[in-house]
Amino acid sequence: MAKQNIILGVTGGIAAYKAPELVRRLREHGACVQVVMTDSAKQFVTETTLQAVSGLPVRQSLWDREAEAAMGHIELARWADLVLIAPATAEFMARIAAGAAPDLLTTLCLATRAPIVIAPAMNHVMWANPAVQANREVLEGRGIRVLGPEHGDQACGETGIGRMMEPNDIVSAMQSIAPVSTTGNEQLPLQGRMVMVTAGPTREAIDPVRYISNRSSGKMGYAMASAARDAGANVILISGPVGLDEPDGIECLRVETAEQMFAATHEHIQGVDIFIAAAAVSDYRPEKQEQNKIKKTKAVMQIDLVKSPDTLASVAKLANGPFTVGFAAETERVRDYALGKLENKKLDMIVANKVGADRGFDCDDNAVEVFWRGGERSFPMTAKAELAAQLIQLITDRYAGSAGTQTKKDWPRAVRD
Ligand SMILES: Cc1cc2nc3c(=O)[nH]c(=O)nc-3n(C[C@H](O)[C@H](O)[C@H](O)COP(=O)(O)O)c2cc1C
Repeated sequence: MAKQNIILGVTGGIAAYKAPELVRRLREHGACVQVVMTDSAKQFVTETTLQAVSGLPVRQSLWDREAEAAMGHIELARWADLVLIAPATAEFMARIAAGAAPDLLTTLCLATRAPIVIAPAMNHVMWANPAVQANREVLEGRGIRVLGPEHGDQACGETGIGRMMEPNDIVSAMQSIAPVSTTGNEQLPLQGRMVMVTAGPTREAIDPVRYISNRSSGKMGYAMASAARDAGANVILISGPVGLDEPDGIECLRVETAEQMFAATHEHIQGVDIFIAAAAVSDYRPEKQEQNKIKKTKAVMQIDLVKSPDTLASVAKLANGPFTVGFAAETERVRDYALGKLENKKLDMIVANKVGADRGFDCDDNAVEVFWRGGERSFPMTAKAELAAQLIQLITDRYAGSAGTQTKKDWPRAVRD
């Protein structure tokens, strides 16, 4: 279940109180969980709790314009590797058996290609009702996996078959489903795509022993490259000087200066589908590099700086260029500067984070805001490897959208070219 994107649908039954625990168990197994609640579910468990345990805003309505702009319901349906409805009410089972889509959760169930698993929970007499059993049969006949319900004491004070399976047991059962899931047999989301990532700082020589650089460690860029590789892409990593091992299975090109990064990028950009500029390239470099070490003779000295070439903007300008993602590290007004860069450089997406002496650089965790035209999404503080996997997923979805198709499997490259 590691790295799987799971939509957890919570419907309006008493057992909804177990949903937060279920979210935690799924996340412990490495899944990324997006909770979607029905209106009735809100009577039993709060959105606040589910948001806190899942780390993502809960989706509730088809008509939430802000959420829909950030990740539309079709995108969300495509994002999911698996849809789990727990608890599933009798009413919800009837809606999906009928193929109805009056709310976000049922619409997602119709729009997804991911396997659907339901864990019904209801009073034992309801469960035994022929209408409910007929719906169960319809759903099973369509390949929807039904987990439980179990026999035991019920909230109504009676005993019988109707209790929702315990969260731990649901998670165990789902592990046996994953290998036969459609995603397991599908190609990886970036299979056959070429992704170029730049990472690390650059060094701009002042003299043979000194240089101007910055505090970038390259960890985020390397994590992005590894996550793109794990998503099936062929990856070229153009790296400034960092103390990191080259990731396996990735072509790594080492550069030192901003000019070298610019040249290496353009030398290899042909055929690249997605360009991710995570490097912290020096904006300026000394106008001239001294041949010999500068001696300590003056009380005050001046070094004239000139602008370095802007690799990111130059790639974004290419006719028929790749889907271009920039990174912006800012110490203040992160959102304003990020949106400015998105617009000025004509990027497809920008990933922005706040940096300072104690955050952003050379640490293993990061929190970012991602912006694109017409949408944005926040990613809370997470390990960079996990964050990179989530970002690659979002980039993949946006890229697929930009290619003008609704399926991950079949991006018509010719359409973009
Ligand atoms: C206190 C209370 C508890 C309920 N528990 C359940 C339940 O465990 N299972 C069930 O199928 N319906 C239960 N219902 C009925 C559902 O909430 C109702 O059918 C609702 O329309 C379900 O909507 P939803 O599935 O779209 O969220 C309960 C209703 C109330 C008032």
